Amino acid sequence: MKRDITQKLKDEHQLILRMLALLEKMALLTAQGVCRDYRFYLDGVDFIRNYADRFHHAKEEDILFEALIENGMPRANSPVAAMLMEHDQGREFVRALEEAATRALNGEAGQDQAIADNAFGYLELLREHISKEDEILYPLAERLIPEAKRDEIAAGYQRAEDEAKAGLEEHYRGIVAGYEAKAAA
Ligand SMILES: [Fe+2]
Ligand SMILES: [Fe+2]
Repeated sequence: MKRDITQKLKDEHQLILRMLALLEKMALLTAQGVCRDYRFYLDGVDFIRNYADRFHHAKEEDILFEALIENGMPRANSPVAAMLMEHDQGREFVRALEEAATRALNGEAGQDQAIADNAFGYLELLREHISKEDEILYPLAERLIPEAKRDEIAAGYQRAEDEAKAGLEEHYRGIVAGYEAKAAA
C-alpha cells in the first residue's frame, strides 16, 4: 500500500469543521441580536488565521498542491487554482469579520449584520471547500502522486509542524473544546 499523504489534512479538517459549527451557532444568535460574546469572534479569527490558514492551508499550498503540479496538474485553470482562490476569498471574509467584531468590542453599535454576514460567508465557503478537498482533490492526489514522492511530502508536513509553535495543535483543540462546552451548557 502507498504511504498516505492526505489523512493528516483530513484530520485537520475535522477540527476546522468543529469551529465552523460554533461559528454558525454564534452567528445565528448575532443575526438575531441576542449574542453579545464578541470575544468569541476574535478567538475564531485567531483560530482560522493560525490553525486553518497558517498551519493547514500552508501545508496544502506549499507541499501537497505543489506536488500535484509537479505531477501533471496545471497551475492555472485547475482544481489547485480554484482551491487557492478559495483560500484567498476566505481571508477576505476573515478580515471583514475581525474588523466588525473589533468595532463591536469597542462599543460601536450596528455591527451585528456585518459580523453575521461575514461569518456565514466564511463558513459556507469553507465547508464547500473542505468537502471538495476531502471528496475530490485529496483522492486525486492519492491516485496521482507516486510512491517515490511520498516520503518527501510527509517530511514537508513534519517540517511545517516543527516550525509551528510548540503545542499549537493542542492549544487550538482546547479553544474549540472550551467553546463547545460553553455552547452545550
Ligand atoms: Fe484548502
Ligand atoms: Fe484543506
